[in-house]
Amino acid sequence: MRFHQAPLLLGLAAPVLASSVIPRQTSYDNCPGYAASNVVDDGSRLTADLTLAGTACHLYGQDLEHLKLEVEYQTEDRLHVKIYDAEEQVYQVPESVFPRPSNNSVEPSDSALTFSWTENPFSFKVIRKSNNEVLFDTSAASLIFETQYLRLRTRLPESPHLYGLGEHTDPFQLNATNYTRTMWNRDSYGVPTGSNLYGHHPIYFDHRGATGTHGVFLLSASGMDIQIDNSDGQYLEYNTLGGVIDLYFLAGPSPKEVSVQYSEIAGKAVMQPYWGLGFHQCKYGYRDVFMVAEVVANYSAAGIPLELQTMWTDIDYMNLRQVFTNDPERFPLPLWRQLIDYLHAHQQHYVVMVDPAVAKVDNLAFNNGVDLDIFLKDANGSLNTGVVWPGPTVFPDWFHPSTQEYWSNEFLRFFDKDTGVDIDALWIDMNEAANFCDWPCSDPVGFADEAGNPPPPPPVRNNSGRPIPGFPSGFQPPPTSLNRRSLHSRQLNGTGNWLGLPGRDLINPKYQIANDAGSISNKTIATDVQNYDGTYQYDSHNLYGSMMSIASRNAMLARRPERRPLIITRSTFAGAGAHVGKWLGDNLSLWDHYRTSIANILEFAALFQIPMVGADVCGFGGNTTETLCARWAALGAFYPFYRNHAGIDSIQQEFYIWPTVAEAAKNAIGARYRLLDYIYTHLHRQSTTGLPMLNPLFFHYPEDENTFAIEHQFFFGDDILVSPVTEENSTAVRIYLPNEVFYDFWTHERIQGTGSFINLTDVAFTTIPLHIRGGSIVPFRASSTNTTTELRKQDFVLIIATNATNQATGSLYLDEGDSLTQDATSEISFNYDNGEFTMTGSFGHQTHIVIKNITVLGCGSAGNATATGPISLNEAYSHTF
Ligand code: GLC
Repeated sequence: MRFHQAPLLLGLAAPVLASSVIPRQTSYDNCPGYAASNVVDDGSRLTADLTLAGTACHLYGQDLEHLKLEVEYQTEDRLHVKIYDAEEQVYQVPESVFPRPSNNSVEPSDSALTFSWTENPFSFKVIRKSNNEVLFDTSAASLIFETQYLRLRTRLPESPHLYGLGEHTDPFQLNATNYTRTMWNRDSYGVPTGSNLYGHHPIYFDHRGATGTHGVFLLSASGMDIQIDNSDGQYLEYNTLGGVIDLYFLAGPSPKEVSVQYSEIAGKAVMQPYWGLGFHQCKYGYRDVFMVAEVVANYSAAGIPLELQTMWTDIDYMNLRQVFTNDPERFPLPLWRQLIDYLHAHQQHYVVMVDPAVAKVDNLAFNNGVDLDIFLKDANGSLNTGVVWPGPTVFPDWFHPSTQEYWSNEFLRFFDKDTGVDIDALWIDMNEAANFCDWPCSDPVGFADEAGNPPPPPPVRNNSGRPIPGFPSGFQPPPTSLNRRSLHSRQLNGTGNWLGLPGRDLINPKYQIANDAGSISNKTIATDVQNYDGTYQYDSHNLYGSMMSIASRNAMLARRPERRPLIITRSTFAGAGAHVGKWLGDNLSLWDHYRTSIANILEFAALFQIPMVGADVCGFGGNTTETLCARWAALGAFYPFYRNHAGIDSIQQEFYIWPTVAEAAKNAIGARYRLLDYIYTHLHRQSTTGLPMLNPLFFHYPEDENTFAIEHQFFFGDDILVSPVTEENSTAVRIYLPNEVFYDFWTHERIQGTGSFINLTDVAFTTIPLHIRGGSIVPFRASSTNTTTELRKQDFVLIIATNATNQATGSLYLDEGDSLTQDATSEISFNYDNGEFTMTGSFGHQTHIVIKNITVLGCGSAGNATATGPISLNEAYSHTF
């Protein structure tokens, strides 16, 4: 056994050397691990062969004899370590879904990280060079690389502070003992804790306080259990159903830097239209076009000074719930178009839902798909059939070269601007993919439940309770001519085919992940179904939602190439934020779900780079209450994506239903709208730099241990601390104020934070505690308006919230708000230093909107100071207070 380090770094890590010479074999298996040979080390890249180092253990399949190791110092703060099968047959995530970073590399001497390894049994460490801290150490257990099971374990320090590994509703700071995070995308009504949910984001942030934060991203689409425990020393262990070990180590050293570094591989978040940040209303069960119109009218009539920004319609509009159709009685096209025209004439927007599952009936959407042969098929060549809302359905195969054409054509046909449903944005759902059928879905026309009872009719769609007819008997899908097996030899890359190893049990792998639906083929497309490119759902399942997202974005761009598409999806894979936004699925109207939404929003926005994220405000399932909905209306105003949505069986929960909720919403929406450019600026910043637009507290105060587990407070943008009341029917909340100057958002009262928890009392149900962080300059619209179009006509006021040294900074990004490409933008920096205010930057977006006045909060003993405008936003400016 020999210890190696990259040559340039020899001698750097004496303590590491000492601990690395005794790689430990775990007691619970006899797996031999691998031995490294043929090491080629050219400094920035290292490759080696890994050969099984003893008798195969065949724990959950066959051990692979020959692997390859590839290590690359990709940037100064990113190290890539990949272990894959020598034959390159094992499935790897396609570049079309997750493009790899460009092939640059740096000298190890320029890297913040060091890779070191032992040869036999092979294990490796990743070390932070600045302090010799071991960040990742796989000697904690032997590496297992089998046909249907991979195991890689790393040691962790005691009581680690870990975040990420979504999607889940578990604590924001992950449990570190006896904890399993299962990842297998799933339709998960009720979003239970401890369960695998809709999205797959195998990245964690390991925060070590003053010594730094790093990120570890495993680029793998495989179903997996990630175990975190201290039963055998503290460790984190990946247990996957396949795929390769494709790890990116992100050096930080601050949490925000890890976010930025992750955005460099996951892709920068897509920019959203300005109006998309407005308030949205939805409900499953708006039974017809009149009911939709009524809700729109009620919002403006109810005395709430807001015009609903965007109205949504769920699957209620569909004819028998079939995608790309409309119910001719309830949503007749001429009437429906009138409603949409009305919305557009009033600066409002309209969104509908599209599911991936296409009803297996004789209609255009189905027949067009059959013509292009783009639906998934079973091994015998017949259409793979599941059961979704309309009854029996087929599923688009996103790997098929004609599926984009199909999808875009359906959009162009059904959502035609002049003759069809002129939507402004898109909602995509059930794309895990969801299927009501358990495996084997052998009789999708009338499948029985576990007790053998016949299927209940699909949920009632409308008040008259018209039953949904089942699959028309006698209809046979046309035969297909494609011989899918002949595609097996298709080459996906230069060296191998990545099609997945042959000879696996794709339905019942020996290692069973803790999927809450049971079998990995339950409630989804069966895992032995083959995609067009020869790969199987077993390997690609977790990509389905992201692939639908990408195709849907392309389809929306085909309709309106000039406009930024707002698309909200339920299922995501790592990197989805480069294409779409996301909502958190079917929560319940529970105080607990109101609370957990905060951590979930932070995970997606700050850790997973999907900033356009929101939970169903007031809760989806069950019935909300006036107080819960009032609190949620206010909290939701500080989600990036702000939508009230309820289930079909839930009572109506539009904000105008209860007076308290109406007032809470009015106050919160007023605040949000006045801050809309502030948050748009942060969204733009995230889409160009990766710096998150929402910040968990430890992102701002990484050395303050009190912040590490905080999951009910966050910063909206960099500077607005949001501290909602969290307990049912309470008007008090215990909040943490870091050691910093703050100003009450509503009263501008100065509060010196002392790094301690304080109690806020008498927090009415119509408000939400907000604080402006000292040291910030926040651009506000001077007043709120009914729509975002009107908002853009308002002047600004600036609030300068000074810090302890009487300084502050801020920024403002301005553009036209909706176009895909922007010719004229302004990126303005504000600076305040002991009485001197300057405004500098680029001023490409010429506007007649001005800054009406500037208020300095807490400026020395003199109290507040004001400068009166108008101050042009088209040029630099300075002022002495
Ligand atoms: C799914 C969605 C939910 C939607 C329902 C009907 O449950 O998550 O938001 O209302 O389907 O389309």
